[in-house]
Amino acid sequence: MTPSRRNLLVRAASTAAALAALAVPATSPAQPLPKLKVGLMLPYTGTFAALGNAIENGFRLQIAETGGKIAGREVEFFKVDDESDPSKATDNVNKLVKRDQVDVLVGTVHSGVAMAMAKVAKDSGTLLIVPNAGADAVTGAMCAPNIFRSSFSNWQPGYAMGEVVAKKGHKKVVTITWKYAAGDESVKGFKEAFEKGGGQVVKELSLPFPNVEFQALLTEIAAAKPDAVYTFFAGGGAVKFVKDYAAAGLKKNVPLYGAGFITDGTLEAQGDAADGLFTTLHYADSLGTPRDAAFRLAYAKAYKLQPDVYAVQGYDAAQILATGLTAVKGDISKKAEFAAAVEKAKIDSPRGPFSLSKAHNPVQDIYLRQVVGKENKLVGVASKALTDPARGCRM
Ligand code: BEZ
Repeated sequence: MTPSRRNLLVRAASTAAALAALAVPATSPAQPLPKLKVGLMLPYTGTFAALGNAIENGFRLQIAETGGKIAGREVEFFKVDDESDPSKATDNVNKLVKRDQVDVLVGTVHSGVAMAMAKVAKDSGTLLIVPNAGADAVTGAMCAPNIFRSSFSNWQPGYAMGEVVAKKGHKKVVTITWKYAAGDESVKGFKEAFEKGGGQVVKELSLPFPNVEFQALLTEIAAAKPDAVYTFFAGGGAVKFVKDYAAAGLKKNVPLYGAGFITDGTLEAQGDAADGLFTTLHYADSLGTPRDAAFRLAYAKAYKLQPDVYAVQGYDAAQILATGLTAVKGDISKKAEFAAAVEKAKIDSPRGPFSLSKAHNPVQDIYLRQVVGKENKLVGVASKALTDPARGCRM
């Protein structure tokens, strides 16, 4: 044999040996997928801190109920306190996306912060599940195949309450809220339905987020003598607003209506000041379904706390993630298949089953509730299967 032929044979034999060493035998068990990296970006300080904690509790409860894994993958959490501060939002979300390289972002509460998250998610292609913030744009002009919401759009509870207040026969309403996307859009939704129903919003009052110096605005309401007031506040600000409204003597003369955040997770702190208030939301404390009863019991056992709407939204964010991830057998890179599975799913929520719209926002019943004792009691369904109009969404 010539030296060059022998060289060729030797090289071929060693290549075959190397390939054989690399080849996975047909019978070997599949390697477990690495831990799923979940980036929680939520407020853990400030006026929305309790909301962030409830969302995380709900999210973790759902995972615990499915054996501590999502679609068979163990979970590793990365957490950022976003402080409900839009000016820090892009840096904060990039800590999770660029530094920690998370597989999925879950957040947040504040609409302004959520819009920054949606921009980064859209640009980077990272999966984002929004477990509260109602910014209409997230499932409107900024909608994307990799962005989902387990909560609501700001338009939804506002629109439902506009119909309720018009049907009650009120004609002139003053609105009061924080001046930022959530407050503005909640009032806009209310006004759209209320004016369609024959009412008129005569004054729109606001103060910067998260200020709670309500006194001057309450004096303006008293002077305007409207038939009713519509409001959006949440968390610590909602507690103070409801107490101040009652203390100013307005509660007995000018009925107060609100998007349900005004009394959700706040009733212990509000005491008698909240008694009797009517609100609209996609959850209530007394739905009376076996699904909700099981959820409430499990939550109370796990955290020694009663759940609220934020806990439900966190729980359902995990359900949405599990639905998509199960369909792709844990392979989060299969984005189109993930989205297709979530789009056709019915999420078995404690609030009642819901599906997602084409823009990935819940299509859901909006309940009318009334505060009785320390509960947001169900009065009825204010708006059945209410679908956000998803204005500006091209998907
Ligand atoms: C928001 O900013 O979208 C929001 C905050 C708290 C409760 C509801 C909505």
